[in-house]
Amino acid sequence: MRSLTAFNDGWVFHDGFDDELMTEPRPGQAVRLPHSAVELPLAYFDETVYQRPFGYQKVLAWSDAFEGREVSLVFDGAMADAVVYLNGEKVAAHLDGYTPFEARLTEHLRRGGNLVTVRIDGSENPGIPPFGGQIDYLTYAGIYRDVWLKVVDRVSIERIKIEARDVLADTRSLSVRCEIRNAGDAGRGTLATRLRDADGREIARADAPLAGDAVTLQMAGLAGVALWDIDNPALYDVEVVLDSLGGSDRLVTRFGFRSAEFTPDGFRLNGRPLKIRGLNRHQAWPHVGYAMGRRAQERDAEILKHELKCNLVRTSHYPQSPWFLDHCDRIGLLVFEEIPGWQHIGDAAWQREAIANVRRMIERDWNHPSIVIWGVRINESQDSHDFYVETNRLARALDPTRPTGGVRYITDSELLEDVYTMNDFGLGSEELPGANRGRVPLRPRAEVTGLSRPVPYLITEFNGHMFPTKRGDHEQRQAEHVTRYLQVLNAAYGDPEIAGCIGWCMFDYNTHKDFGSGDRICHHGVLDMYREPKFAAWVYASQADPADGIVMKPVTYWARGERNIGGALPLIVLTNCDEVEFRYGSALVKRIAPDREAYPHLPHAPVVIDHRHFSPDELGLWGESWAGLTLRGLIGGEVVAELRMVADPVATRLEVVADDHRLLASEKDAVRVIVRALDQAGSLLPFLHDPVTVRVTGPARVIGPEVLTLTGGTTGFCLETLGAAGPIGLEVSSPRFASVHLALEAVAG
Ligand code: GAL
Repeated sequence: MRSLTAFNDGWVFHDGFDDELMTEPRPGQAVRLPHSAVELPLAYFDETVYQRPFGYQKVLAWSDAFEGREVSLVFDGAMADAVVYLNGEKVAAHLDGYTPFEARLTEHLRRGGNLVTVRIDGSENPGIPPFGGQIDYLTYAGIYRDVWLKVVDRVSIERIKIEARDVLADTRSLSVRCEIRNAGDAGRGTLATRLRDADGREIARADAPLAGDAVTLQMAGLAGVALWDIDNPALYDVEVVLDSLGGSDRLVTRFGFRSAEFTPDGFRLNGRPLKIRGLNRHQAWPHVGYAMGRRAQERDAEILKHELKCNLVRTSHYPQSPWFLDHCDRIGLLVFEEIPGWQHIGDAAWQREAIANVRRMIERDWNHPSIVIWGVRINESQDSHDFYVETNRLARALDPTRPTGGVRYITDSELLEDVYTMNDFGLGSEELPGANRGRVPLRPRAEVTGLSRPVPYLITEFNGHMFPTKRGDHEQRQAEHVTRYLQVLNAAYGDPEIAGCIGWCMFDYNTHKDFGSGDRICHHGVLDMYREPKFAAWVYASQADPADGIVMKPVTYWARGERNIGGALPLIVLTNCDEVEFRYGSALVKRIAPDREAYPHLPHAPVVIDHRHFSPDELGLWGESWAGLTLRGLIGGEVVAELRMVADPVATRLEVVADDHRLLASEKDAVRVIVRALDQAGSLLPFLHDPVTVRVTGPARVIGPEVLTLTGGTTGFCLETLGAAGPIGLEVSSPRFASVHLALEAVAG
């Protein structure tokens, strides 16, 4: 039987690499994985500091459990160019920073101590995708995902692929293809597979004799199976048990029954039309880049699904963490996953590596019900006929159940994929080709594809660099940021030829000097780097059904003189209420309906309060007294939300919110903590740029500096466990506010 245990603790990190590390254990910095080779400042740093080699060492003691068995290390992800040595022998090399690889140790193991050395090179090696040109993100360096020690019998299950058929019929069928490692040594043997529901009840079974490297088992006539859907992500377990003269094995894989189709008339999930409303996600955090573990990965999926109310995420521009994808399966968040790359296509060897990435991505992830499309082009590259014929051929051969897409920004591009996936940055741009340039939020499909036939069509990016917006930016800029999101979403909802749209992007991210605001940040998110919302985040949130949470967010800091010329109109209120009562001071009251004139297609148009409802002098003129704002949200005439903003905000308190108070000591666990400066009514104080000091007691540390600055009224940090269990005390203080104390705990187990 297999054993798979975390191999994340007890590594020694070396800030550099020399060949002696392959054979000699040397003292260095004790680290746990996931690990970032260089911790970076939040902004304004030299991004070449991690673009060099580093070393990791760990001693693996011989265990009797290794005797006569296959022993390997599975690396979930290491950036970018990894070579693994065991006792000085090279046992694995991997030229991709985003997919897993296995280092087979078996033959090289000694009885006693075994030195595992990993050389990681964070250089932007032009031989490895995405490198060779400029890329608008950082890739960091290090063993940034988990490593596992895998021990199996000589004959074992290599991987399984589960495919459901006739998903929308009353009786579905399932095929389970099992690839066997060292099948030639199996002798006689059997494979047994079981389908179980979430409660562990057996739904179906199939058995077959072992025959060759791969065996496909079929289960037919499956009745009463629940479909995996975004509202009810029903998951099943497929268990495969191998029994042979050469060894036994058991593997359990999560799976869901669903059909997902891109048609020229839009996207359908389980036969039902669903407009895709998504965001692009990088896998980065402040200071540690990619090196965040399970909790942070799952948290991002939660934010997308439950706070931003998205139904899809694009893993721009590479395969992301298994923890993230598993959670998308669990919570019902659709995924567009793609191979690593950004505009640049390298030489033949580079292209072979990219083609290998198609295989690595699909073989790793083909059982995730959340993934509905494979991106098999280098993001935003030019057409490249032979290369993309091959990526498409391979994707379809490996997985005939999912369509391919390939993200471009060019029009009239050769369509080798199943879906024309387009980054439409046309809004406001006079330079782009086409009759509608700059005038419409999204260009018509035929104008973009240049094709007379209707093809499935999806918008994979919009906004982004067309309108960078910082969380603490001027209110008017934020209002335009919001308006651009509203316009594009409205256009996507209004055009049945568009399957949906995926905005650029979920959160701000560190980037190269060639992009961003010079601070090494692209301020393109609807959230900032700590996932604190900008106003645009509520464009997404407000599209949800009120049963899923009432939203009523005015796009204002509520001040007389923040906007040019002064005043607060037009005031956009992002809401899923069907009316908003606006009260200025104590006298002026008006009930206003959503602006269906400007946004006829959105599920929930915002309320826009402007000259149609008030003349500017009704809200007082420059020189007159400024009054408070009260908004009430109504549904069916009932008040369901109320919000008050004061005319005289004063710094009143710090709010400190940790995502969780219990952390795991047994793994490198980290929680996010957000600090907000609030006025007497609980509104953010966007222009209070005070310092905040964090003090931690107990077995945890702050990732990054302990003195922070409020920006746009908030700041954030992550708190990371150090290995021991026990109480963690957190004190957050600042000159203007009473200190806030939080009691957290690192728990064993
Ligand atoms: C796109 C690109 C993204 C990001 C975005 C900024 O061209 O695919 O990675 O750079 O622009 O708007």
